[in-house]
Amino acid sequence: MLENPRFPRSNGYDTEWVLAGDMGPHPLWLLEELADELDLQSGMRVLDLGSGKGATSAFLAKEYGVRVWAADLWIDPTTAAEHIAVQGVEGVTTLKAEAHALPFAHGFFDAVVCVDAWEYFGTADNYLAYITKFLVPGGQLGVATPALRREVRELGFIPEHIKKLVGWEALAWHTADWWRFQWEITELVEVTAARFQESGWADWLAWSHAVSTYRGERDGALDMLEADQGEYLTFAILAARTVGA
Ligand SMILES: C[S@@+](CC[C@H](N)C(=O)[O-])C[C@H]1O[C@@H](n2cnc3c(N)ncnc32)[C@H](O)[C@@H]1O
Repeated sequence: MLENPRFPRSNGYDTEWVLAGDMGPHPLWLLEELADELDLQSGMRVLDLGSGKGATSAFLAKEYGVRVWAADLWIDPTTAAEHIAVQGVEGVTTLKAEAHALPFAHGFFDAVVCVDAWEYFGTADNYLAYITKFLVPGGQLGVATPALRREVRELGFIPEHIKKLVGWEALAWHTADWWRFQWEITELVEVTAARFQESGWADWLAWSHAVSTYRGERDGALDMLEADQGEYLTFAILAARTVGA
């Protein structure tokens, strides 16, 4: 049901396990595409920020041999650890953490990865400066976040079918160009990727159908996705490196 030739690594994961961790569009597809924009090397320390039930954390540890700190606010760390343990991976530490009050030393991580969570806390002007403090100089930041193909500010309205499901929260769904400017202007990072996921809408729709089948009830995002037909909805794939010696 979720086999996809564009995501060979994700295809190696049991569909039921991935669907059981559902909190939004296919996290492994998003991460697999995002990781192509990063240079993740075995042994690196990676913060998976807003890791939810931890599918992405397990994937990072298993596929790239990195050590992962899976930090999340809503999901209990024991629940996440149990979900991750199914994959039999070592090297993932789960913890409850709020994205603005992270319990780590500055310069601790080689990379911060964030899949479908940045939109909840990362849009404030001062957040990039906060999060990059936890990276080594030259450390990597990778974000996959819901995006609209046009800025709400430019449209002058939130498209009705999107407003119906997410309301004002769609204000956080910026274009890739918005993110590129927002990050580059700080001179804190060098932006290495800021693009739309071309298949973002279609992937989200496929996931939403799979979730509906798995749960035996229509997924909440389906109406919005079907009404959209790819006009506005996709994901932004963002990658950057901190500047500094
Ligand atoms: C849509 S879920 C995605 C979870 C996971 N990354 C995935 O793709 O399956 C968003 C996650 O962001 C986390 N989150 C939201 N606000 C947060 C905050 N202020 N600090 C830390 N995590 C937060 C929630 O706990 C939730 O698990």
